[in-house]
Amino acid sequence: MSTPATGGDPPGFAPRHVALIMDGNGRWAAQRGLPRGEGHRRGVEALRRTVRAAGALGIEVLTIFSFSAENWSRPAAEVFDLMGLLRRFIRKDLLDLHQSNVKVRVIGERRDLDRDIERLLAEAEDLTRANTGLVLVVAFNYGSRQEIARAAQKLAAEVAAGRLAPEAITAELLASRLDAPDLPEPDLIIRTSGEQRLSNFLLWQAAYSELVFLPIYWPDFDRAALEGAIAEYRRRERRFGGLAAAGAGTRPS
Ligand code: IPE
Ligand code: IPE
Ligand code: MG
Repeated sequence: MSTPATGGDPPGFAPRHVALIMDGNGRWAAQRGLPRGEGHRRGVEALRRTVRAAGALGIEVLTIFSFSAENWSRPAAEVFDLMGLLRRFIRKDLLDLHQSNVKVRVIGERRDLDRDIERLLAEAEDLTRANTGLVLVVAFNYGSRQEIARAAQKLAAEVAAGRLAPEAITAELLASRLDAPDLPEPDLIIRTSGEQRLSNFLLWQAAYSELVFLPIYWPDFDRAALEGAIAEYRRRERRFGGLAAAGAGTRPS
């Protein structure tokens, strides 16, 4: 995700890359007296709707935070439930995604995952590699600090092997060693559930992302919520450290 940020997109256009922190499944369930697992299952339905909506709205890249490197600290039964949901999602939805021309990418650490999950993720990427529609980036066992540390390890190995001078390490070079360096950085990051934090998601890539926090739980997310967040994004002015565009100060807030 090293594409330089160069000034946003023309008004009326969808953001190229939307990233989603799909939060609040547990609270959605608790509010209804249901087990947390039911919230996660309804969350998968919201994800299906959202992938369809993102494609229809002309978004190029949709990144979804599915399981964080820190989520292993949850009770074993919930972790087991979440792993089962990922297995079922790939087995059930992969063909549909493929037929919809969706290209699946995966970011995060794969080495700690069960072998069958690792294989399913690889299968999803392999099957959809040549697709040209929406790029769906699944952040699974993902932590941004860990991703940056892995990138630093790669550079350190190149320095140790004598192939890279320490002075040659720039922000761009480090970005080029992140998990999906060819993708644009997120223009818009949406978090549901009312929490206003990134929780170790895309810390590097979010340097100039617009952040939208929605007061709804993830299972209630739908196309209207996505369109609302995009409308809010369009009202923002992205400056990337430069100055406001002429006339921008006169727009209503
Ligand atoms: C998001 O919902 C799903 C994952 C983190 C896997 P949560 O499970 O975090 O739901 P809350 O935040 O406890 O309500
Ligand atoms: C972030 O939500 C991770 C995912 C949505 C997968 P969490 O529920 O894990 O985040 P915290 O613990 O509230 O910060
Ligand atoms: Mg949560």
